[in-house]
Amino acid sequence: MQIMILPDSAAIGVWAAGHIMRRLADRRLRVLGVATGSSPLPVYDALALRLPRSGGRNVRADPESDKDARAEASLRSLTAFALDEYVGISPDRPESYHAVIRGEVTEKLGLDPARVHVPDGTAGDLEKACREYEQLIAEAGGVDLQILGIGATGHLGFNEPSSSFSSRTRVKTLAPQTRRDNARFFASEEQVPLHCVTQGLGTIMEASELLLVAYGEHKAPAVARAVEGPLTSMCPASIIQWHQDAVVLLDEAAASQLEHLDYYRHVQEHDLLPDQD
Ligand code: GLP
Repeated sequence: MQIMILPDSAAIGVWAAGHIMRRLADRRLRVLGVATGSSPLPVYDALALRLPRSGGRNVRADPESDKDARAEASLRSLTAFALDEYVGISPDRPESYHAVIRGEVTEKLGLDPARVHVPDGTAGDLEKACREYEQLIAEAGGVDLQILGIGATGHLGFNEPSSSFSSRTRVKTLAPQTRRDNARFFASEEQVPLHCVTQGLGTIMEASELLLVAYGEHKAPAVARAVEGPLTSMCPASIIQWHQDAVVLLDEAAASQLEHLDYYRHVQEHDLLPDQD
């Protein structure tokens, strides 16, 4: 696991966007796993700024422009899979993850909407829809890079505590804490659905690369448990310790409860193969 401590959420976004652009330019990123929530927003914003058509800094005179032009070409044929969706919320409603992904990812990055997939939380047969979602990911060749946030309960996607480490896409019940945390996107807490469809931890772990983003003091306890705690389904995000290629991007506040913070800084300072932008 690579732990990067950066000054703020904007710097996290810039680092992640640079990393994603390099993967796109190298043709190593054909299927992107996208997440909702506030955490990945600086990543999508920074990515959009790298794209010339959005009026970003990447004019053709830029020495990076060839690489970025290659990355942009890859972006046009990129397939994306979202992690999760609420059950029973129409994709037209702004609270739905369909709507969030449409606005924050598909439109912002100019992706082909036909290639951007979000689990169906309104299907008549939810179990069948979950199986089909898994199949769609497999047919796309699996996820190359998965962007992740982390919930206060230690969840990844909507895999709440006690989720099996080998779970697949399925229906889950949201923890009371998660419903409280997500009430800010709804008119009231009561309106936050009780159920969701989420990729399983087993599904997420099959992504070739994980990029977990967390910032702010409120994330510090969950980050500490995920990065340094025991591998336990009571903190689902602790499974990232088992992944062979996981990067954890933190600001100072989110990293503040890490016991071995000095060690991570030391490793970061002496990285032999740093990501070059
Ligand atoms: C939501 C999403 C997760 C996200 C998490 C954190 O419930 N299902 O994918 O990582 O909560 O959200 P935020 O980044 O807004 O703190």
